[in-house]
Amino acid sequence: MIEEIAKNLVELKKEFVRVYDGKSQIQEVIPKSKSDLFPIDEYHLELLHEFATKNPIYYNSFEKQIGTVNCIVYEGDINKYWLNSIQQGSSKAPFSPTWIMSGYVGALLAKELGYTEIIDIGSGDGRIAFVAKILDMESYSIEIDDMLVDLQNLLTGILDFHPYCSDAVTFDYASLNLTRPAFFIGGLAQMGGISLASGVLKSIKSISNLDGKTGWVFAGTLSKKYAPDAKNEAGWGTLIEDNNLKSVQSISLPTAWTLHESDETPYIFAESN
Ligand SMILES: C[S@@+](CC[C@H](N)C(=O)[O-])C[C@H]1O[C@@H](n2cnc3c(N)ncnc32)[C@H](O)[C@@H]1O
Repeated sequence: MIEEIAKNLVELKKEFVRVYDGKSQIQEVIPKSKSDLFPIDEYHLELLHEFATKNPIYYNSFEKQIGTVNCIVYEGDINKYWLNSIQQGSSKAPFSPTWIMSGYVGALLAKELGYTEIIDIGSGDGRIAFVAKILDMESYSIEIDDMLVDLQNLLTGILDFHPYCSDAVTFDYASLNLTRPAFFIGGLAQMGGISLASGVLKSIKSISNLDGKTGWVFAGTLSKKYAPDAKNEAGWGTLIEDNNLKSVQSISLPTAWTLHESDETPYIFAESN
């Protein structure tokens, strides 16, 4: 069912790109209500809309029929957050968001794979941690940029997804008392993601009770503008092998940075070998 929703979301995005004639810097869509293509709990959908409505990134929204799906389109601008995020000394990746619906589908899959906590590493506006909380998972959001963490704190009134303003590489993960966490790494391998993921992997290796219990979700790219990784996995193959992980599933989902590309963002789910 999760793969079907992911496929339907990709089709929805393609149709949206075909019919959208607005000029906003970023935009995304969320189905207005439950349907055969999007059999999502109505209350979950309500919370996804509330996250977008209260999020200062978005300055406009309107209802639009996209294909057969009645949706709300959210239009926004991330310029000032993007600029602030690249000014952080130890930043490994600039801010650009995945789609809220993509975060939801990714969290659904993490839950199905048995994870009970999601740690959103390089969390931007905290959307992946937020959607995990909708699914009754525990979640934590680690973001280096203070302006983005201030934004996240505006949204914790809906659901508290525990934002921390910290460099994810030096963060004290032992303090969270994790038991079965999935770490979503917010950065392409070729754009600083390897360094971010390597730092977090090293910290987690020192927590003995997590040995063999962690999941890793890497945002990949199929774009030809990056040199391919010798071990593939959308840029993550070498890191996966070097850290004795194995890829267990991959799911393609829309993100802000692939809006006008034909390939979506492959999210690679990996676990201990
Ligand atoms: C591509 S964005 C991803 C945002 C979010 N995870 C999403 O998918 O919508 C990467 C984010 O990582 C943050 N970041 C970069 N280096 C970091 C670090 N060392 N520690 C914590 N956050 C970091 C950036 O400020 C930015 O907001």
